[in-house]
Amino acid sequence: MIYLDNNATTPVDPEVYDAVFSSLKRDIGNPSSTHAAGLHAREAIVKGRARVAELIGCAPEEIIFTSGGTESNNLAILGTALRQAKGHIITSAIEHPSVLNACRYLESLGFAVTYAPADADGIVSVDAIRKAVRRDTLLITVMHANNETGVIQPVAEIGSIAGEQGIAFHVDAAQSVGKMPFSVADTSIRLMTLVSHKFYGPKGIGALYVRKETPLKPILFGAGHEQGLRPGTENVAGIVGIGKACQIALRDMKLRVSHTRGLRDLLYSVLQEKIPGVSLNGHVSQRLPNTLNIRIPGIRALDLIERLKDSVAASAGSACHAGKDFPSAVLKAMGLSDKEALSSIRLSVGKDNTEEEAREAAGIISLAAAALGNGQ
Ligand SMILES: Cc1ncc(COP(=O)(O)O)c(C=O)c1O
Repeated sequence: MIYLDNNATTPVDPEVYDAVFSSLKRDIGNPSSTHAAGLHAREAIVKGRARVAELIGCAPEEIIFTSGGTESNNLAILGTALRQAKGHIITSAIEHPSVLNACRYLESLGFAVTYAPADADGIVSVDAIRKAVRRDTLLITVMHANNETGVIQPVAEIGSIAGEQGIAFHVDAAQSVGKMPFSVADTSIRLMTLVSHKFYGPKGIGALYVRKETPLKPILFGAGHEQGLRPGTENVAGIVGIGKACQIALRDMKLRVSHTRGLRDLLYSVLQEKIPGVSLNGHVSQRLPNTLNIRIPGIRALDLIERLKDSVAASAGSACHAGKDFPSAVLKAMGLSDKEALSSIRLSVGKDNTEEEAREAAGIISLAAAALGNGQ
């Protein structure tokens, strides 16, 4: 099985695995306990938090640990909005469901939400965001890199709009942190989501960057953990794991970017040689180094994924929608027809893939596509 679904999740790095395993054995105390076992577990958290902060260029106390991207996005959006009884939020049409559905929930409570469109390249319209700003706009939330196309969004420009108008700005960086350099330093970002399992850490642990003095309400209620923003006994081994994954990402970033970009481009060039009419969805260069979303004429993506399932791991749309035969909302928002969207697949390479795998996968995919009607 050639694993080309690294935007759904990544395999755990062996160094991370060792760190998590040791922590499970070693850090037996509750980090809130004041005895030595508790203090030991607390130290592990302090170290993990410092490593996460270092990767994204913030202070350790600006990191709030959560269970992952979904929770971080909910905390950022609901925790900002629900400080008021109503107001206006700006997001985009191509966000992850954990952003879109949090916004829809706010709409059900009487908040207003504007969904800014994306262009044919998958880039969210900065102009639409600027025009959408109202007196009661309390939050702008836009992703950094799209999970399906990998397209990088103009968060610096969007952040300037938010900064000028004094509006809170949240960025869902679940897909970019750990895959490409990205720092919150010198930006207008006040809240940012990151997720361990997208960059070789364990699943079920993530973080929300909350810039100092950013007002936020908790969405869960309990004791005072994580500065009162995320109650519950901490996932110590998970925090050790995300910390290790961040440390490795920082250490290996240059290599990771060039390796994945090289493989992704090789994969596409071999696919272009072998698959008649194949084309790219999303901006050609303003894209995560590892992501390739392609359209294969004459096939249904779900049939292709099914045929490949024991040889190449890929996905049609995103993993959250896997198995459902409806066109990707992201691709539709970019102007693709239902038929084009339903014939599109996402291939996302990772640090452990090899050139040999890229060539082999391209061969397997092209044969499967031909058997399903491509080129006929
Ligand atoms: C852009 C984006 N945001 C948020 C999430 C949610 O992360 P998790 O599934 O870890 O909650 C994902 C995961 O697919 C994602 O791609």
